[in-house]
Amino acid sequence: MASTANEKPLSEAIRHRRSTPSFAPDPLPEADLQKIVDAALLAPSGYNTQPWRFIVVRDPMQREKLCAAAMNQRRIAEAPVVIVACGDSAHLDGEVLDEMLRLAKEHGYGDERQHEIVRRNFPNFIESLELNVWLNRQVAIALTQMMLMAEVLGYDTAIMEGFWEDRVKELLVIPDSAHVVALLCIGKLRGPDKPFGGRFDRSRTIFHERWGGTR
Ligand SMILES: Cc1cc2nc3c(=O)[nH]c(=O)nc-3n(C[C@H](O)[C@H](O)[C@H](O)COP(=O)(O)O)c2cc1C
Repeated sequence: MASTANEKPLSEAIRHRRSTPSFAPDPLPEADLQKIVDAALLAPSGYNTQPWRFIVVRDPMQREKLCAAAMNQRRIAEAPVVIVACGDSAHLDGEVLDEMLRLAKEHGYGDERQHEIVRRNFPNFIESLELNVWLNRQVAIALTQMMLMAEVLGYDTAIMEGFWEDRVKELLVIPDSAHVVALLCIGKLRGPDKPFGGRFDRSRTIFHERWGGTR
């Protein structure tokens, strides 16, 4: 992915990102949206299973309804694009496994013997998972890549977990096999940005060599 002159360095995007308090109605050009979505699709995932599903919501009426299903957080109706990030556990040890092995072969990743081992072990792996925890882990990484790509391209973002999952699922016709992880609003900041809320001292959150370990 070639960078363009007006992209921010990733380090700057990470330092200056805020959860945007209000969005201007300016549309998000299709080419930029494509880059943002592609950034998610390049994320890593366990066994390369790619269980994420992203619903891109642009239609103003649909965003109004989504806003109502998300505790009336107005930013959902304001932002030109809202991405609904989901994880899907359907057909993981069937069609998904076949497709992931087909891709691996196509890209020359692994040999027959390794693919056979994966085919044998994968169902046990899936069986051992707490599915929604596992889906959250996979999808959150992809969603973060998407958020940071949007920030690098000069957009503002807000991730949201304040929604009623059953209402979001009904509105967007999301199947039972899928779980809604979070919403991501993308657009341009309107008005003043939210001030930095601070972060805990690193002695509370960064350990060395063991839990609680200090240097
Ligand atoms: C997973 C996740 C869910 C969040 N959900 C909401 C939300 O529903 N509504 C909201 O106003 N802020 C939400 N936030 C924003 C947080 O409040 C915000 O990230 C935090 O206060 C730190 O501020 P900053 O993002 O500007 O650094 C969410 C953030 C994350 C990472």
